[in-house]
Amino acid sequence: MEKDSLRSQGWFGKKGKDGFIYRAWMKNQGIPGHQLQGKPVIGICNTWSELTPCNAHFRELAESVKNGIYEAGGYPVEFPVMSLGETLIKPTAMLFRNLVSMDVEESIRANPIDGVVLLCGCDKTTPALVMGAASVDIPSIVVSGGPMLTGKYKGKEIGTSDVWRFSEANRMGTMPDEDFLVAEACMARSRGHCAVMGTASTMACMVESLGLSLAGNAAIPAADSRRKVLAHMSGMRIVDMVKEDLKMSDVLTRQAFENAITVNAAIGGSTNFIIHLLAIAARIGVELNMDDFNTSGRKIPLLANLQPSGQYFMEDFYYAGGLPVLMKELDQFLHRDTITVSGKPMSANYCDCDCYNPEVIGTMDKPFNTQAGITVVRGNLCENGAVLKPSAATPGLLVHTGKAVVFENIEDYRHKIDDPALNVDESSILVLKNVGPKGYPGMPEVGNMAIPKKLLEQGVTDMVRISDGRMSGTGFGTVVLHVSPEAAIGGTLAIVQDGDTISLNVPAGTLHLEVSDEEIARRKSNLVLPEMATRGYTHLYQQHVEQAHLGADLDFLRGGSGSSVVRDSH
Ligand code: FES
Ligand code: MG
Repeated sequence: MEKDSLRSQGWFGKKGKDGFIYRAWMKNQGIPGHQLQGKPVIGICNTWSELTPCNAHFRELAESVKNGIYEAGGYPVEFPVMSLGETLIKPTAMLFRNLVSMDVEESIRANPIDGVVLLCGCDKTTPALVMGAASVDIPSIVVSGGPMLTGKYKGKEIGTSDVWRFSEANRMGTMPDEDFLVAEACMARSRGHCAVMGTASTMACMVESLGLSLAGNAAIPAADSRRKVLAHMSGMRIVDMVKEDLKMSDVLTRQAFENAITVNAAIGGSTNFIIHLLAIAARIGVELNMDDFNTSGRKIPLLANLQPSGQYFMEDFYYAGGLPVLMKELDQFLHRDTITVSGKPMSANYCDCDCYNPEVIGTMDKPFNTQAGITVVRGNLCENGAVLKPSAATPGLLVHTGKAVVFENIEDYRHKIDDPALNVDESSILVLKNVGPKGYPGMPEVGNMAIPKKLLEQGVTDMVRISDGRMSGTGFGTVVLHVSPEAAIGGTLAIVQDGDTISLNVPAGTLHLEVSDEEIARRKSNLVLPEMATRGYTHLYQQHVEQAHLGADLDFLRGGSGSSVVRDSH
């Protein structure tokens, strides 16, 4: 490639005043002039923050990426974007996924960058960065931060999914407060993101199966030195991707998305996958809808025996061979020839690998569960669909009819759930309203409502739960999520009353409120919708956020605007 065709030369290659300005201020960082003369300039998009503990090691990771970029003859420039830590951000990190994607998109486009390395870790940081980069469409590669080491608590292996178990035990009084405190420190004992197949690991598997990362990216623990080696190799590779002009849209084809859906079924990936993948597809201009998840995920069994659907942790997954082994097993269902960031077909990522632990990664002949993937259900309660993860549900509840116990919003739920007078039994269906994209706002991970205390005491461990919210990828249970349209815009969910009968039939793909159309219409005519924010980002978000079945992106962010900027700054 000629140096003049580098995008960055539109800045550093300029003559006169503009070129002087573009180069001079870079030189204040001690950069010799030759670095700015026709070397590929590689942005490192860093979501480091001490408020995002899962990504707190990213400055070190960026150094490894830089070493690789220098080795390959490129010039690295690290830049920050807003970081989203799942655990600290209120009311939910999801409120800001689209905001970060705008930050990423504009930061890449506005700057002299020829290619970009996206440093992704905690849940939302991956889709936000991929969405933003997709709307610019220059050569891009993802380096994930890697999962934490497996937690160890009193001789037992633990991970984030145990938060939900410990919390129930603590509420029941079987786990004293002192033990609860000890478990905190035991669970998150190393750098990295959640150590189970929660949303962060699901996203890391998503980028690898889409072809956006080098092989093996999904599973290497954050604390393992081979994570740094992968970062170094990714830094080398992005320089060549710029020379080859291998753009994101060359990798993100319809077939790549189908591969990601197939892989997500076999890993028992998070329900959040569906929202994020839909949003990414819309950015890059690939047609994808909810039904594609039923189609491409069908017949795929659960191959990864990882929590929350199975038993093991991401560290075990890596030692067993990681995602390439699982993809090799899925070979017959994958589009083998889709191009990945390596420049080679997808099959090259997995053809030469072996499984080192069949307890962790099963085979098509010996899967861990025939129930896998994410099932989309439809009915008068969710005309645009809702989702459920069968592998994390109780088989006996997948076909269930029960009476609704309704919570109008999260405060109503918190107030009533442990009230001994609550009219609920184990056949009841818990319904939580107004936790959707506009309603909360931001669609928080509260869909896996805790079981009422009085039922817990009777030994009830699962119930059918329905909401327009999301669930943590580390959560489990027979939980129907993402009901669309949501309650806050007047979806049928908004008019469900205590005692209404609801029928869920997952094999048939239906969710039905047993109330007549006339009665539904009558109740809707009396509905008072919640008020929306009147200023700031939340106002913009509520005005423009799309429903869950479309990916919950802002409507004006669909598609992309390319990488060209013609006007100069002075
Ligand atoms: Fe960051 Fe789980 S909290 S990945
Ligand atoms: Mg989460």
